[in-house]
Amino acid sequence: MSWLASFALAIVVAMSKVVLISGASSGIGEATARVLAAAGHQVFLGARRVDRLEALASEIGGAYAPLDVTSRESFQSFVDAAVERYGRVDVLVNNAGVMPLSLMSSLKVDEWDRMVDVNIRGVLNGIAAVLPRFADGGHIVNVASIAAHMVMPTAAVYCATKYAVWALSEGLRQERDDLRVTVISPGVTESELADTITEDYATSLMEDFRKIALPASAIGDAIAYAISQPAEVDVNEIVVRPVSQR
Ligand SMILES: NC(=O)c1ccc[n+]([C@@H]2O[C@H](COP(=O)([O-])OP(=O)(O)OC[C@H]3O[C@@H](n4cnc5c(N)ncnc54)[C@H](OP(=O)(O)O)[C@@H]3O)[C@@H](O)[C@H]2O)c1
Repeated sequence: MSWLASFALAIVVAMSKVVLISGASSGIGEATARVLAAAGHQVFLGARRVDRLEALASEIGGAYAPLDVTSRESFQSFVDAAVERYGRVDVLVNNAGVMPLSLMSSLKVDEWDRMVDVNIRGVLNGIAAVLPRFADGGHIVNVASIAAHMVMPTAAVYCATKYAVWALSEGLRQERDDLRVTVISPGVTESELADTITEDYATSLMEDFRKIALPASAIGDAIAYAISQPAEVDVNEIVVRPVSQR
């Protein structure tokens, strides 16, 4: 290898980050893993469907471990496995989420619980597991939504969970001088998210709403942008919508 190639390789390695991604088995998490791996980062993938993680990791060159974000122990083991493999963690992308939309009057209380458990508790479990493991600063990227900024019919509980993600991200950011915290708020994006809806009325609303969905790589690109900034630059929030979404 020429000295120039060695020099270039050394720069790429120095800029490469160890990035943990929850919910990497489909949609935005999967697309983010592809974008970040292509940019030279070392991606560590987590989700419950490990068969998908295994296939993705072997395709893009990352590693994976099983993860149920609702369990504090599972998140801790996931982070520990990444530290054992790479010796450090630089970024956690808290992406896992569910969206079983329904009218509140339908009283789908088990689905409310699931949204709270995955979308809020899951993010908190990730923060608790990773914060003590950041050696030098660190970066937490929380995937919220445009639902962190507006409330839509059938989405009251989902929006409440995403407002919570926004609030806890902002609170965490204000606490620390050495930690970068980014909220990524996607508009409608291609993924499997709407598959969790069990109410016919909400499903029919979503059919029209999702016709203009962005490719999930558009969100991966936004996350890559936030991660690639210099250490003293904290991109606090990026909202990414289809141009025709009101
Ligand atoms: N798509 C959109 O239009 C849109 C818009 C705004 C915000 N978002 C947000 O984007 C994030 C990603 O969603 P997506 O749109 O990409 O949907 P998706 O394709 O359904 O992906 C959701 C991911 O979350 C994981 N997940 C669910 N429950 C989990 C648990 N208990 N433990 C670990 N992982 C879990 C799933 O993996 P397993 O099932 O394999 O565990 C899957 O990988 C979510 O936070 C969502 O709220 C999406």
